[in-house]
Amino acid sequence: MKNELALEFSCVTEAAAIAGYKWLGRGDKNMADKAAVDAMKLVLNRIAIEGEIAIGEGEIDEAPALYIGEHVGMGGDPVDIAVDPIDGTRMTALGQANAIAVLAAADRGGFLHAPDMYMEKLIVGYRAKGIIDLDRSLEKNIISVAKVMDKKLSELTVVTLQKPRHEEAIRLMQDMGVRVFAFPDGDVAASVLTCMPEKDIDMLYAIGGAPEGVISAALVRAMDGDMQARLIPRNKVKGKGGDSEETLNIARTEIERCEKLGIDVNRTLTLEDLVKTDELIVSMTGVTKGDLLDGVSRNGDLAQTETLLIRGKSRTIRRIHSTHFLNMRSEELRKIVL
Ligand code: FBP
Repeated sequence: MKNELALEFSCVTEAAAIAGYKWLGRGDKNMADKAAVDAMKLVLNRIAIEGEIAIGEGEIDEAPALYIGEHVGMGGDPVDIAVDPIDGTRMTALGQANAIAVLAAADRGGFLHAPDMYMEKLIVGYRAKGIIDLDRSLEKNIISVAKVMDKKLSELTVVTLQKPRHEEAIRLMQDMGVRVFAFPDGDVAASVLTCMPEKDIDMLYAIGGAPEGVISAALVRAMDGDMQARLIPRNKVKGKGGDSEETLNIARTEIERCEKLGIDVNRTLTLEDLVKTDELIVSMTGVTKGDLLDGVSRNGDLAQTETLLIRGKSRTIRRIHSTHFLNMRSEELRKIVL
């Protein structure tokens, strides 16, 4: 993939973050998401690529824009695109930390076409590459990671999501003496933090969205980390509500979709299964201030953003601080962001 595209993709997530910011703290996560989707689509369509959405807002019949299979771009190199216009829509609506706009692009065929269902994820940075195994218990994985990183269990930090389905895992890890950071939402940002050598997070264990999982896999691969994952039908995640007729129906549909896509639900997926190439670019821009990125700040028509731009081939991580004169943007974009 052409290096020059990296900067173009950073403009896409910047626009989505600025659009999402308009809805910051306004209690409406759907409007925040819609604004980010619209801005992303507009800017993506100005790039010289033959883009196809591999991971997006859902199927053609459930998402009006950035749906799976949608063609984006003005024509050019064939590129697969995985987007989460806002990972942390609830955090944006509530004005909470760590919401980001994210896009990953790969050469055509680079991403697993994962259905929108839950995915169990285990992620480590480059120092623990090659030793995780989701077919072993969480406890055994933690012990292996601590050993290879030459740390005592009390020096190890695992990040997860604060969800009822993780209560048992969180208790187990804390009983082992491990420090656990449980984010309310947003496992993509947590995946990046796990792979950043300068951050004090050694592992991610969480059950979150499969689309977010593929995007995380792209950045884990680009940052030389490691990941394993497993798709999980909804009824196995929802605890006591898991045996309701509605949940069981959703689970059946999810399994059927996996079968159509040729994915074995029970199989553990490796990083190579999730993302098949190093020809990758990942861009993410902070919507709200967080551990990873500053959020958008606005002063009249001026907006400031911070973006992480990662190239898979060279494993380069760039941090870009930008100032945007929004009154200079096209009328279409101004309508979305101002
Ligand atoms: P959205 O902001 O896109 O809704 O995702 C937030 C998120 O926390 C993801 O990071 C995570 O993978 C998923 O939701 C978890 O799903 P659930 O909210 O059902 O637990």
